[in-house]
Amino acid sequence: MKFKEKAKRMFFNSVGKVVNGLSQNEGDYEKSNGPVTEGMDKLLQKVACEGTVLLKNDGVLPFSADETISVFGRVQLDWFYVGYGSGGDVNAPYRVNLIDGLKNEGVRINDELAAIYSAWCEDHPADHGVWGKWPRYLEEMPLDEGLVTEAARYSDCAVVVIGRAAGEDLENIAEKGSYFLTDDEKEMLTLVTDIFPKTAVILNIGGVMDVSWIASLKGRIALLIPWQGGMESGDALASILSGKEEPSGRLADTFAKSYADYPSAADFGKKDFNNYTEDIFVGYRFFETFRKEAVIYPFGYGLGYTDFELSFTEANEKNGVITLRASVINTGTRAGKETAELYAEAPQGLLGKPSRVLVSFAKTKELAPGESADVTFTVPIERLASYDDSGKTGHKSCYVMEKGSYGFFLGKNVRDAKKVWEYKLPRIKVLQKLGEVSAPKKAFSRLAAKTAPNGCTVNAYESVPTATTDLRSIILAHLPAAIPQTGDRGIRLEDVKSGQNTLNEFAAQLSNDELEALTRGDYAMNSPLGASGNGGVFGGVLPSLREKGVPPVTATDGPSGIRLRACASLLPIGAVLASTWNEKLIESLYALVGTEMQKLGSDVLLGPGMNIHRNPLCGRNFEYFSEDPLLTGKTAAAVVRGVETVGLSACPKHFACNNQETNRNHTDSRVSERALREIYLKGFEICVKESEPKNIMTSYNKINGVWGHYNYELCTTILRGEWGYSGNIMTDWWMQKSASPEFPKLSDNAYRVRAGVDLLMPGGDRMKKKVPDGTLLKTLGRPDGITLGEIQRCAKDVLTICLEKI
Ligand code: BGC
Repeated sequence: MKFKEKAKRMFFNSVGKVVNGLSQNEGDYEKSNGPVTEGMDKLLQKVACEGTVLLKNDGVLPFSADETISVFGRVQLDWFYVGYGSGGDVNAPYRVNLIDGLKNEGVRINDELAAIYSAWCEDHPADHGVWGKWPRYLEEMPLDEGLVTEAARYSDCAVVVIGRAAGEDLENIAEKGSYFLTDDEKEMLTLVTDIFPKTAVILNIGGVMDVSWIASLKGRIALLIPWQGGMESGDALASILSGKEEPSGRLADTFAKSYADYPSAADFGKKDFNNYTEDIFVGYRFFETFRKEAVIYPFGYGLGYTDFELSFTEANEKNGVITLRASVINTGTRAGKETAELYAEAPQGLLGKPSRVLVSFAKTKELAPGESADVTFTVPIERLASYDDSGKTGHKSCYVMEKGSYGFFLGKNVRDAKKVWEYKLPRIKVLQKLGEVSAPKKAFSRLAAKTAPNGCTVNAYESVPTATTDLRSIILAHLPAAIPQTGDRGIRLEDVKSGQNTLNEFAAQLSNDELEALTRGDYAMNSPLGASGNGGVFGGVLPSLREKGVPPVTATDGPSGIRLRACASLLPIGAVLASTWNEKLIESLYALVGTEMQKLGSDVLLGPGMNIHRNPLCGRNFEYFSEDPLLTGKTAAAVVRGVETVGLSACPKHFACNNQETNRNHTDSRVSERALREIYLKGFEICVKESEPKNIMTSYNKINGVWGHYNYELCTTILRGEWGYSGNIMTDWWMQKSASPEFPKLSDNAYRVRAGVDLLMPGGDRMKKKVPDGTLLKTLGRPDGITLGEIQRCAKDVLTICLEKI
């Protein structure tokens, strides 16, 4: 290693130690090698299999039992089970890599080749880096023709595994070793596929990467994406390769021909701000409307080991709900599951619409050859509506359905879906009258669709409507009344639980200091009040609160399992969960995670992560679900329902537009109100309305100039006001210091509480100061200061979560 390299590594290692020292990674981790929760191993395998997507199969898979498989690629041993950072840092009891999985499954592998990889990996141990400086890939073992030719003597079958890491606080990049293959990987693929007649290429990745090379490979090829499947990855994948299980995953994102084809490519990753110029045309909405030819594998696509036919049965509209029935028949020779997908095309009208929008989906049970199943899609007509943020339709700030014909398309993916029905609307229908909320402050040009004289849909650009509201007066008109303070009357939180007293009576007794303490967590991560290694504790953080029966509530990450020093099950990443398209399965997985939380002492799971995959390079896409808000919202709701079955709660995050990791604490996501509502908030809206989560976490970034944790318009006007959310809103870890532009006397915690963000997590600043920072109470009772009613409102939201624990 060159001196400069060494010095850099030493520097980052010490930075990493400081960061970890401030978080919860000090001290020993527990060890175990058995399952943490009975039955979890089998369920994890099932989810990993249902989330594995088969994109190409020239009769390669499944391998037959008498074939010997030569496995290439170091990732066979150094498997990426999950991404790095809070969404992956789970102390798993064990992790099964591909080679162990194949052995467990009894698949015959080329042992000589496996031994060569094993020795090479030992000599070139994987360096997992430090916080935010994770590797994006691992150096590959260079191959020569002799070795590959020798391996090919064993059989015709090869597996080539390519791996990519993913991680929090680090973006992927459009370079070799991240979005693109390295030279060694290319060479490996070319050599193996030139020499072996049958090759299964496996992508052990956290999100979309370039696959344009697939067309140039020789021989018979299969392309399989198990993503990062958690601790049971190897066993699940081996059962798919052997044919014991079927890969029934379908893509939750589009794979385009080139990175530049993604509509956000030119406006992504900038430090200060990014204009969301593609507007509502994210993912397949863009490709199906404007650039069909740029797609390699469309949204919703995936093969299995058998075939299905979908046929439309009937449809009708009644009381604002469209019911469409179809049947799915297994026409192949093996049992399998299919996902029936329903898309709609709204008339272009004045607003311009994407050519396809996913409006419903259904995964069948396993169907035997020849067996069929009836599928019923239920589509509330709101799913067909567009938000008019400009007033073009004469209905500014309303969800409208423009007049014309609404086509319904049934299929196995967005591209092959065929028109099966039409719903006609003779005149425009206003579905919801709302107000202008969180519009951009500065204009920029956004992509729009319009109908050309020849009837084709073409792109056009228009200026985004900018903000016209007076936030100060809106906030002042909605300040909550204070509950007169009574001093301690001996009411305990249990008395509220039993119905003897009201929450207001309990809250009335609290002193200002107690109220302040309820609106922030304990000062640091790994609070001594909770299980070792916790992400933070809130609620009973003062002795006087605990004396009144307020319990400390423990929050732990996260999306891929419970992050503590104790051993916990390591789950498949968000991309896998979404690729299952199976809400019931996800719900049952998270019900089991709930029981594990009970056992390990976690009350609130800091997940699911549910930001939209705006761009394939976002470092945290692995935690999130999809480029589509319906699939995102439904998957998140399943997670929330699952955890709540045991009486604990989840915390969907990051509200909202946390679509990149570059400069994530400062970057401003500038996005039209229409795109916010139809794309970036829609998943949250679905999740809130369908599963009523008890917590929501704001995002690090700004949205149209306002940080998530200070965002009155998103948190109070939309989340609570429009959607009826009544739970607790917490910050993402710590917050940025700032004064309110509308109320300059309010800064930091007072600014946050005025926005309706209940809880600062953790409660201190990053340097572990063990006293409140004073910003909340400083202006209490002063002109233009924070009011008692606002502090009490936040404290009561937090107490509502505490009540769940007693
Ligand atoms: C992440 C959150 C996470 C929190 C606690 C932050 O860095 O953005 O998603 O829940 O840390 O670990």
